[in-house]
Amino acid sequence: RPADAIVRPQAAAHSKIPLPGDLFAPERRNSRGVEFGARLALEQLLADVKAEAVDLKPIADATPDQTNAALAAAAAGFAAWSRTPAGTRAAALEQAAHLLESRSARFIALLQAEGGKTLDDALSELREAADFCRYYAAQGRKLFGADTAMPGPTGESNALAMRGRGVFVAISPWNFPLAIFLGQVTAALMAGNSVVAKPAEQTPRIAREAVALLHEAGIPRSALHLVTGDGKIGAMLTAHPGIAGVVFTGSTEVARLINRTLAAKDGPIVPLIAETGGINAMIADATALPEQVADDVVTSAFRSAGQRCSALRLLFVQEDVADRMIEMIAGAARELKIGDPSDVATHVGPVIDLEAKQRLDAHIARMKREARLHFAGDAPEGCFVAPHIFELKDAGQLTEEVFGPILHVVRYRAENLARVLQAIERTGYGLTLGIHSRIDDTIEAIIDRAQIGNVYVNRNMIGAVVGVQPFGGNGLSGTGPKAGGPHYLARFAAEQTVTINT
Ligand code: NAD
Ligand code: ALA
Repeated sequence: RPADAIVRPQAAAHSKIPLPGDLFAPERRNSRGVEFGARLALEQLLADVKAEAVDLKPIADATPDQTNAALAAAAAGFAAWSRTPAGTRAAALEQAAHLLESRSARFIALLQAEGGKTLDDALSELREAADFCRYYAAQGRKLFGADTAMPGPTGESNALAMRGRGVFVAISPWNFPLAIFLGQVTAALMAGNSVVAKPAEQTPRIAREAVALLHEAGIPRSALHLVTGDGKIGAMLTAHPGIAGVVFTGSTEVARLINRTLAAKDGPIVPLIAETGGINAMIADATALPEQVADDVVTSAFRSAGQRCSALRLLFVQEDVADRMIEMIAGAARELKIGDPSDVATHVGPVIDLEAKQRLDAHIARMKREARLHFAGDAPEGCFVAPHIFELKDAGQLTEEVFGPILHVVRYRAENLARVLQAIERTGYGLTLGIHSRIDDTIEAIIDRAQIGNVYVNRNMIGAVVGVQPFGGNGLSGTGPKAGGPHYLARFAAEQTVTINT
């Protein structure tokens, strides 16, 4: 594979919200066919975001009575919503995408104030949220629009229908407080379920405004309910006898707790769709382009302050080029500006809260004792963690997901590639994997062996695009199916076969 065959990936999301690159580089706007990009100037967007007042006063947790009331109201709302034609349900989601786009500044302000997102990250998340709405609407029209006629060799008429299951509980994390929150909720609604949504306790405001937007877009209040609060409220929702399904995105530990709760309940067997974390690896061999590796590693490990489930945690570099690659990666990391997410020059914003900072600081302290430090960035005072690069003697030193901007590097000899794959397998996770190589046989052999949900070759390994790169993992990383993929909605539905002896 010649070097010039390796090109940058082009973002290919569907949403009309301009890509960050479109805002920063006006001359590139139309070459990608993004006809909408030119309309929104960066200065105007920033002024609009600044003009938005975000009230950060604490939001009260739902009481147990309010939580039960939301479940009861969702149960009452199910019948009407599940009978609402799929086209009407889809139209509400499309309207939601439109409203999101027309309120970009409001949601960017919320994502920055409550979620600590940089402008790039907030824009990408907004696009992803709008993409989920449109994609699930389009998929839903196909899947739920009409029953599927089945062959009838016996002379009977056979048809397969897809319908909502009942009340779906949607529990989401703080790291994509808009896109994942809306992705879960819109999928469950599109399939004809009523929904009780519980966002992460760190990001209730974004969820509250997203729910208001969905109601405004045409989702009946009886079909969609929000309850705010921490894990205790989540546990109460999942233990309730009246629920028909749970969609969860968050840590593997909490997914296990929910799984146990559901399994221990009497009554119907309740399906769980769980999307969880990863100890994600990248393999860079001696044929990889060092500049591209450095750029893609820095993006994958440090963008969003490493607070992506897809982020790179463990980089395997072939011994022969390791010194040079590590030096280049550290050089690229040195260019990152860490600080206020509302400053457009910032690459790395804060981590979500002090608890997260303390956990990450403790990990850094342990790594300083047990590994070789290659790079430590400068972070301002406050809830910031500077990017760090450590070299491990053995991949087994990293035993759990470290959810922040900390990269671990391990050297390997070319003849030991199989051991690298074993080490990745031993983590038990299977979310994302990066490969940097110009040898097709190597790339194919790794892909063939890896039980990983999303594999990225010669590019960065974050930012899956809805409908283009269906996202989700295996093993400790989740139950599947893949968000933003063609099989996702079916998992929210019950199937009914009707056979009529005509
Ligand atoms: P978390 O598991 O701590 O919390 C997620 C949600 O679960 C929150 O709403 C929380 O209140 C709720 N919760 C906590 N305890 C609960 C319980 N006992 N019962 C029911 N609900 C409960 O995760 P987090 O810290 O919010 O998010 C970070 C994690 O999410 C990381 O592990 C990351 O890898 C993962 N993640 C995965 C994906 C994916 O698509 N695979 C995407 C984003 C984040
Ligand atoms: N879907 C998000 C990504 O791919 C988590 O980075």
